[in-house]
Amino acid sequence: MSTAQIGTDLSKAAAFLRNGEVVAIPTETVYGLAGNALNEYSATRIFEVKERPFFDPLIVHTSSIQRAEEFVLEIPDAARKLAEAFWPGPLTLLLPRRSIIPDIITSGLDKVAIRVPDHPLTLELLKMLDFPLAAPSANPFGYISPTSAQHVAQQLGHKIPYILDGGECGVGVESTIIGFENDKPIVYRLGGLAVEAIEKIAGPVTLMAHSSSNPLAPGMLKSHYAPSKPFLLGDLKQLIQQYGNEAAILSFHKQYSYTHSHQIILSPSGDLNEAARHLFGAMRSLDQAPVKYIIAELLPEQGLGRAINDRLRRAAAENS
Ligand code: TXA
Ligand code: MG
Repeated sequence: MSTAQIGTDLSKAAAFLRNGEVVAIPTETVYGLAGNALNEYSATRIFEVKERPFFDPLIVHTSSIQRAEEFVLEIPDAARKLAEAFWPGPLTLLLPRRSIIPDIITSGLDKVAIRVPDHPLTLELLKMLDFPLAAPSANPFGYISPTSAQHVAQQLGHKIPYILDGGECGVGVESTIIGFENDKPIVYRLGGLAVEAIEKIAGPVTLMAHSSSNPLAPGMLKSHYAPSKPFLLGDLKQLIQQYGNEAAILSFHKQYSYTHSHQIILSPSGDLNEAARHLFGAMRSLDQAPVKYIIAELLPEQGLGRAINDRLRRAAAENS
């Protein structure tokens, strides 16, 4: 049951945040569960509401590169180029933090994750506030990220006072996280900004291998973004034969069955951006369908297809 108010009242959202409370905010990637990033009490509330372990650090959201400079010791050249090219946008940069950022935000790490989100309501909200907003995705820890105010209300509505409704998220997968070593970019999480776009500005990037023991980015834990039903990834024709009507089908652009009542095609025209926008909503709705399994296929490994495949593999990892 949801008790949160859902609305577009920026002053109301700002008042709750100034009061140390947490509210859900829209971004272009997914909805965030936001609190004052400079206030340890608010940060603690975020972890409590999300039931997230304290070792998993939070992203700090601010409204411009200039304001980001208040929270980091320096912005190396490669990072500045990327920020200038892609902020506001689905890019998170790991930069050396100033002590004004509390330990709880970075889980004690010396780098803070920071980004300028590209959503008109949230940008306006950030400009009204004299503090930045810490915000993880607004889902219970380990579940699929929310891409609408209703998704947030269904799972966290009973725990927070307000959900700022910015409509459906335009990108639909979380931000791409980039760190730097000797000014060379390293991708820690594939996300809403394509690797190809980053490489055009910053040159070749290194992809951090997946690992379930990497303490630097727990968002990389293999089983994450997981629906509660078994999620099976492979050749859809074979999977349909094997699981029949006990399965719901999640496909990229083809319709594989004319008899299954539960199937979602992410983008009938084969557009990877559209597929990303629909991915999490589709996973949620198939998770609620009266079937035992969700069966799905990988997309082409290019553009946002890489981030989509990363989320599909993690959803599937839950059962392996
Ligand atoms: O698109 C997004 O990034 C969304 C929206 C709300 O901005 N936020 C988001 O936050 O996805 P979250 O907390 O669900 O995922 C952020 C990931 C975490 O899993 C964490 O591991 C990583 O970012 N992270 C945060 N701070 C970090 C740090 N200082 N060093 C390394 N990784 C960090
Ligand atoms: Mg998350």
